[in-house]
Amino acid sequence: MDGRTPVSAVRRVQELAVNGFDPPAAYIVKDGGTGPVADTLLSVPVIDLSILTSSSTCSKEKKEEVEKLRSALVSWGLFQVVGHGIPTKLLDDVREVGKEFFDLSMEEKKRVSGVSEDGTVDDLEGYGADNIFTIDHVLDWADRLYLLVKPQDQRKLKYWPQKPNNFRELLHEYSTKSSMVAEIIVKKIAELLGLEENHFISLYGDQAIEYARFNYYPPCSQPDLVYGIKAHTDGGGITMLLQDKEVEGLQVLKDGQWIKVPILPHALVVNIADQMEIMSNGIFKSPMHRAVTNSEKERMSLVIFYSLHYNDEIEPAAALINETTPRLFRKVTVRDYLSVFYPNYLKGERAIGWAKV
Ligand code: OGA
Ligand code: NI
Repeated sequence: MDGRTPVSAVRRVQELAVNGFDPPAAYIVKDGGTGPVADTLLSVPVIDLSILTSSSTCSKEKKEEVEKLRSALVSWGLFQVVGHGIPTKLLDDVREVGKEFFDLSMEEKKRVSGVSEDGTVDDLEGYGADNIFTIDHVLDWADRLYLLVKPQDQRKLKYWPQKPNNFRELLHEYSTKSSMVAEIIVKKIAELLGLEENHFISLYGDQAIEYARFNYYPPCSQPDLVYGIKAHTDGGGITMLLQDKEVEGLQVLKDGQWIKVPILPHALVVNIADQMEIMSNGIFKSPMHRAVTNSEKERMSLVIFYSLHYNDEIEPAAALINETTPRLFRKVTVRDYLSVFYPNYLKGERAIGWAKV
């Protein structure tokens, strides 16, 4: 391994977990354990999108919801969204079809793998696990299915499972609906920053790229020694996550404490990601979050990363920069940012310092 060509753990975590063996050393966290979760009454904000979008909602109620969103964005960078309009059946079905995929035989799953038998990563898309760029990072206790969903004509269908047979159709439908939710949220974020509603949308245009990632976390015999996904921020604009319907695991760092994100079965967990932190000149921050595993139950989440295009340049909106709030970030291309982001992400470190002025 030369430190640049990524390789992937050859065994999938699911195979390691089958017999309840203890996790191999490469997965064991270095700081002694996954650490405490805050015992707090603070709870992750829940935003009702239908109040924000309805034309008939009385303005007082709407104002209150807008203020709730502002406070969620400023003090958490993460919130749950209900009233988003995506049918609950679609949410259940796409979750189910994801689980069914991970239940298929290894041979069947490897048909859509971007990783060769020797572990060389040919493509980050497809079925795989944590990729290894350097030997000094701890691996996540998770397998993944990572697929570009937008722009539609850039989909690599060879990585889209044909089994279960309604997988493609359901992911297509879910990604179409979740894009609409992302657009509404990105518009609200612009308004809350005092920018024109379409400020970010016009940057995204029809160039928005969206990846879907199904994260599959097998049970682990020693859950306090591994992370399902280690602490990180996301590298896109915003992220929308559909949690497992029954099994908790996601935590967010707020004021130095890890706080559980409880399950609301048909809510989407939305968080600010690094590109939006840059474009908002740091007003809305991309929160650290992580997922833990447990010894009994598998867990699956479906994440949509909503990002600008690789060739796009990002920088703080000009209207947000003045004498009292100076520019915090340079102009960078999404491509350069992500190339710095990814190795840092694997090491559990933030990349955003690289974009600071
Ligand atoms: C992610 C992520 C958390 C989860 O995929 O970026 O933060 O609960 N996942 O799966
Ligand atoms: Ni994340």
